[in-house]
Amino acid sequence: MIPAQHDAPISADETPQRSELPSGAAAAAQYRDGRGDLNVDVAHSARIYDYWLGGKDNFAADRTVAEAIKAAVPEVPMMVRANRDWMLRVTRHLARDAGIRQFLDIGTGIPTTPNLHQAAQHIAPHFRVAYVDNDPLVLTHARALLTSDPRGLCEYLDADLRDIDQILASSALGGTLDLSQPVAVILASVLMLLSDADNPSAIVARLRDWAPAGSYLAISHPTADLDPEAMASVVDVTEASGMTFVPRSRAQVTEMFGDWDLSEPGLVPVLAWRPDAQPDHPEAAYYWTGVARKPARPAAGRPCPPCTRFP
Ligand SMILES: C[S@@+](CC[C@H](N)C(=O)[O-])C[C@H]1O[C@@H](n2cnc3c(N)ncnc32)[C@H](O)[C@@H]1O
Repeated sequence: MIPAQHDAPISADETPQRSELPSGAAAAAQYRDGRGDLNVDVAHSARIYDYWLGGKDNFAADRTVAEAIKAAVPEVPMMVRANRDWMLRVTRHLARDAGIRQFLDIGTGIPTTPNLHQAAQHIAPHFRVAYVDNDPLVLTHARALLTSDPRGLCEYLDADLRDIDQILASSALGGTLDLSQPVAVILASVLMLLSDADNPSAIVARLRDWAPAGSYLAISHPTADLDPEAMASVVDVTEASGMTFVPRSRAQVTEMFGDWDLSEPGLVPVLAWRPDAQPDHPEAAYYWTGVARKPARPAAGRPCPPCTRFP
């Protein structure tokens, strides 16, 4: 395993300037490829996120970019914590109240206790979870740490969300999830790492088609709607470091749910989604979040009681 925290943390007075950020075509190419060996000289979203969450699995390049973003928007660590807490609230809600027994979590991130399978298997140990991420460091840690209760199942796929057909056809996924039953698909803070050219809407639509009726889709997505200036700063810094980071509007995120039924309270800022305690400023974290259920479709030619449109 790769030892954590290879170099000393940077202090506040060492906050880097834009000119110090890793940049250039080479860095961007290495980052965008994302499938080769671990490159610790290029900042990566999983490790930047880990740094903001107080983790130790990050490197100088990651911390440089993380601190530069934090210098522009000091509340960022609070926002990513809010996103992580939302993912856990969604997991517990779906496991406890919605009858969901299996999860597909794409863009898992570096393991952070509690992880999704721990939150779910705490409720019922037989729950099944398939994790997908394309970062080599996530892979290393996931193999060691994302271990299931023996009564459940926990599988990790080293795959790229952009290769969605390959993910959905994989035997690892087929061996973990029972597609005769609903699945909760979790896309927490990952779609912003796909460019518009990657067509994230089409990728999510493919997942919606694949999921059995009664499945749920949970999305959290950074947005510029709540503070355009702050989000423009984040985009500036990430672009300068060669990363892709695309905030999306409420309308764009809403469209990703297609015709699925959005659960209460609808598409809302992350702090306002079924909070454990009412937040003072529900719009203080710049993520849209929502959870929706795939409606059951009547079989062709069969009546759908009490609907009589199908003879
Ligand atoms: C910001 S972290 C979010 C982690 C976790 N979902 C959460 O909300 O706490 C984004 C994760 O998505 C992964 N990721 C980025 N692009 C991806 C892609 N194209 N396919 C699969 N995973 C990806 C990164 O490696 C990282 O672990």
